[in-house]
Amino acid sequence: MPQLTTLPGTTDKRIAALLTLLSENTMIVISGARIAKEIGVSRSAVWHWVQRLRELGVRVKGQQGNGYFLEKVPDILLPDLLRKRMKGSLFGKRFYHFFKTDSTNHVAMELGYTDEPEGAVVLAEEQTAGRGRLGRSWHSERGTGIYATLLLRPELSPVQAPLLTMLAGLSARSAIQAQTGLSVELKWPNDLLLGGAKLGGILTEMHAEPTAVRFVVIGLGINVNQEKFPAEIAGLATSLRKESGGKSHSRLELLVRLLTQFESDYNRLLREGAGFVAERFQKESDFANGKRVKVESGMETYFGKTDGLSPEGLLIVKRDDGRVVTVIAGDVSEVR
Ligand code: BTN
Repeated sequence: MPQLTTLPGTTDKRIAALLTLLSENTMIVISGARIAKEIGVSRSAVWHWVQRLRELGVRVKGQQGNGYFLEKVPDILLPDLLRKRMKGSLFGKRFYHFFKTDSTNHVAMELGYTDEPEGAVVLAEEQTAGRGRLGRSWHSERGTGIYATLLLRPELSPVQAPLLTMLAGLSARSAIQAQTGLSVELKWPNDLLLGGAKLGGILTEMHAEPTAVRFVVIGLGINVNQEKFPAEIAGLATSLRKESGGKSHSRLELLVRLLTQFESDYNRLLREGAGFVAERFQKESDFANGKRVKVESGMETYFGKTDGLSPEGLLIVKRDDGRVVTVIAGDVSEVR
């Protein structure tokens, strides 16, 4: 399969160029003629692209005759801006940005079947069919959360792939702590919580042979600037903004920190093997140690206490009936 440079539905390079130009000149009125010249389109096309940006929620001020400007840089995860910040990084080369797509994991899986190299990052401002673990959906309101999927081609066996989910959780935890000072709780295997409410989650999907991973996609969803959530999840979900007294946070900054941290953690895994991941997760997650839990796994439901992780990253639970088991998959919830 060929390597892809553009994908249907990705943000048009000209609209991205227009946004970059306006962002680099905030509060400065730029004439339609200058924009047309700089991004290489007609003046009427500039008007058309400005309308498109407005439809997408970017507040472009000004009119056709006088020129256009932005009052502040919009917090949009534009490839041009990210590329500048991520120079030389594994995740700084190939961004696929969508204003709207069904699921960044879906797009990344499709990329995985082509010759797309490791390190591609798929980003969306909004997802219409964001997916979560265990067939759940992921609420993906426009421009408020981070919806990002990374494509990796590691030399791992399929049983080791879940360790990448944990590694991404650890990287997200460090990045969030560094940017906001908030201390995220890691709930095995893929949840990021604040005050017991869901702040984010990771969905790892892969294509593998019995003994070797062909590619893995790691989907990260983080609630950053949501002010409220739909009624069905309002009591369960939270955002960084809600947890910091209404203060909004730069999604771009957080994504840069997250990608940088994940790259360094991923390189360690490739260098040293996956041994350190379960150990570090166990250290950083209160949930993995001595929490009373209910486990729903396949046909079975039981209660017990968490007792650390196995080296492969499986959760060890001391059941109430005395048996010690490792949980491979399933839903584990804390019982208070
Ligand atoms: C979970 O907690 O169940 C995992 C949620 C993962 C959501 C992210 S958002 C970006 C990526 N694309 C998806 O469709 N899902 C993941």
